Amino acid sequence: MKKPVDLNASYQPSSFEFRDMDKVAEIISRYPQGKQRSAIMPLLDLAQRQVGEDGAQAKPPYGGWIPRAAMDKVAEIVDVPPIKVYEVATFYSMYNLEPVGKYLVQMCTTTPCMLCGSGDIVKTCESQLGIHTGETTGDGMFTLMEVECLGACVNAPMVQINDDYYEDLTPESMKQLLIELKSGRPVTVGPQNGRVTSMSEAGTTTLVAQADKLGVKKAV
Ligand code: FES
Repeated sequence: MKKPVDLNASYQPSSFEFRDMDKVAEIISRYPQGKQRSAIMPLLDLAQRQVGEDGAQAKPPYGGWIPRAAMDKVAEIVDVPPIKVYEVATFYSMYNLEPVGKYLVQMCTTTPCMLCGSGDIVKTCESQLGIHTGETTGDGMFTLMEVECLGACVNAPMVQINDDYYEDLTPESMKQLLIELKSGRPVTVGPQNGRVTSMSEAGTTTLVAQADKLGVKKAV
């Protein structure tokens, strides 16, 4: 679900500066001379991460998002009209163009996840946090967002929270995950049912000798 964009909203800061200009230069140097505009996407990502770092220290906290001033700064750096950066930023769903909670919970509800119970995961998130999909909790900790397939269907149902995937969810494990995140306690990334990555839940069935030899952990 793409969120609305309001370039003139009251929450938009009047200016933005990158903190790490060495990183900006390094990103631009990845591309051939005269092709600086190719750096638009990684620079937008850098801006979003910088805002998220600031937000993690703020009270109330907030997550990474890209203000209009940051898009304008990227346009200035790569020497393109601002509209060219807006076009990129508004097309890709990984860029947040309005403030989000410290934890952005992206709930996959595409067919494989839906068949494996994503509807109950959505209900659990909404009831545990007391908000609807598309909203942010009053304490700034969580934003709920419904998204299309995140490419982890074999571990359905799953959600992405900030940079990490949490998979093989049940309503109980989803609720516990939200409780742990809110409390600041460490959480387990990946499958929440104990299985190893996307290996069979029934255990290793092929290439067992090779797996043993390489020290690959067996599925549980
Ligand atoms: S359908 Fe949910 S990850 Fe693919």
